This record gives sequence, structure tokens and C-alpha cells, in this order.
Amino acid sequence: MHVDEAIRSRKSVRRFLPDPVAASVVSHILDVAARAPSGNNVQPWRVYALAGEARERFCHDVVQAAQDDPDRHQPEYAYYPTQWFEPYLERRRRCGFGLYATLGIARDDKPAREAQMLRNYTFFDAPVGLLVTLDRRLNTGSFMDVGMFLQNILVAARAQGLHTCAQAAFAWFHAIARRHLPMSDSEMLLCGVALGREDTSAPENAFITERAAAGEFTSFHGFA
Ligand SMILES: Cc1cc2nc3c(=O)[nH]c(=O)nc-3n(C[C@H](O)[C@H](O)[C@H](O)COP(=O)(O)O)c2cc1C
Repeated sequence: MHVDEAIRSRKSVRRFLPDPVAASVVSHILDVAARAPSGNNVQPWRVYALAGEARERFCHDVVQAAQDDPDRHQPEYAYYPTQWFEPYLERRRRCGFGLYATLGIARDDKPAREAQMLRNYTFFDAPVGLLVTLDRRLNTGSFMDVGMFLQNILVAARAQGLHTCAQAAFAWFHAIARRHLPMSDSEMLLCGVALGREDTSAPENAFITERAAAGEFTSFHGFA
């Protein structure tokens, strides 16, 4: 697969088929992804790959926590601003409304929106869930490094005919991840990644998000 095709065909898939993904395929994707650059080659990421019963037990506890007492769980880093502003506010709205529209969920249908949100915590039915952590003793630059590694996972998965969804939603539930996995105190849970085969019959997977063109966010200087 041409790299442009791998990048362009990547999208966030939010309904997966149950077909298993072999550990060897997951390892291959992670070996490829680990070719990501990082400042001074520190490679600050760690990954917990979950499948089968380990995945089920973890998902069960996260779904329960998200239903019973969501406010008790807070992330260890701030992904989003507390106050949104333009042009990000409008882009965020278009993303949320677009997804709910493809699912036929009305804007004021809170129970349906919450049910869709909860689907995060079963990795949208993906047979494999990855949890990606960063050593918190490093500095903010390392977030760039893990971002590159993450994107490599998403793109390398395409070369295996697989799809993904990055999921910051798991950052809220690091305490539960710690109960299930040998995650040390120095690790900060950044996000999850759902990994598997796309259910092409699911309407939510047909939702393709927009992008600003290069000319809108780039100013060119000194070109002929
Ligand atoms: C780091 C990161 C975290 C994300 N977390 C979530 C999440 O928790 N749940 C979700 O449904 N989508 C999540 N997304 C997916 C974004 O909503 C999605 O990438 C964006 O809308 C662009 O759409 P596309 O991925 O289909 O191109 C996340 C994306 C990134 C990069």
C-alpha cells in the first residue's frame, strides 16, 4: 500500500467485526510503529495490548465505572482546553454532530449520545485494545514523540487491512487500568487504540471528517 493511500484510508472506525487479530500481527504493527522518531531516540512509550478475557474483564470494569460514577475518574493530563474558541469550537461541533447524524441520533437525545459514548469502553467491539502510556517524569516534548508513535500504529494497521480508533476516552480510567495491568506509578495513561477489522455495514464508519487544505494553515515563503 502506498503511504499516501495508507494515510488517506485511515479513519476512526467505531464499529468493528469480532474477527480476532493474531498477536503476531499486533507485534508487527508495533514494531513498525516503534520506528517513529523521538527526541534523542528516548522512545518514551509503553503499550499494553489486550485481547480475549483480559480485554473483556478490563472493559467490563471501565463500562461499570463510566456508568456508575464517572466524575470520580479524571485524566492525568489535560487534552482539551476548559474553554473552547474558534476555529476549534466549530470544528469540534461539526465532528460531533456529523457522527451523531450518521447514527441517526438527534442532538437532544442525551441517552442515545451517552450510549454511543459508552461504546468507547468496549473499544467499539474491536477484538484488540491497546493502552498507550508515557513516562510522566519526561517533559511535554515527549507528547510529540508518543503522538508520532500513535499515528504510526494507525497507519501501519492499514497496511495489514485493519482499522483503528484512537481513544483518549480511556485516559479517564487509568486507575482501573492500573488494577488490571502492571502499570507503574511513573506511567501516565495517554490513550487507547481500538484495533480490528472494520464493519463496513455500520453507518458510523461511513462518516468521513473534513480537513482544512494546506493553503489554509500554511504560509509559503521564499518559493520560486
Ligand atoms: C489522540 C486522539 C484521541 C481520540 N480520542 C477519541 C475517543 O476517545 N473517542 C472517539 O470516538 N474518537 C476519538 N478520537 C478520534 C477523533 O475524533 C478523530 O480522529 C477526528 O474526529 C478525525 O476523524 P478521523 O480520525 O476519522 O479522520 C481521538 C483521536 C485522537 C488523535
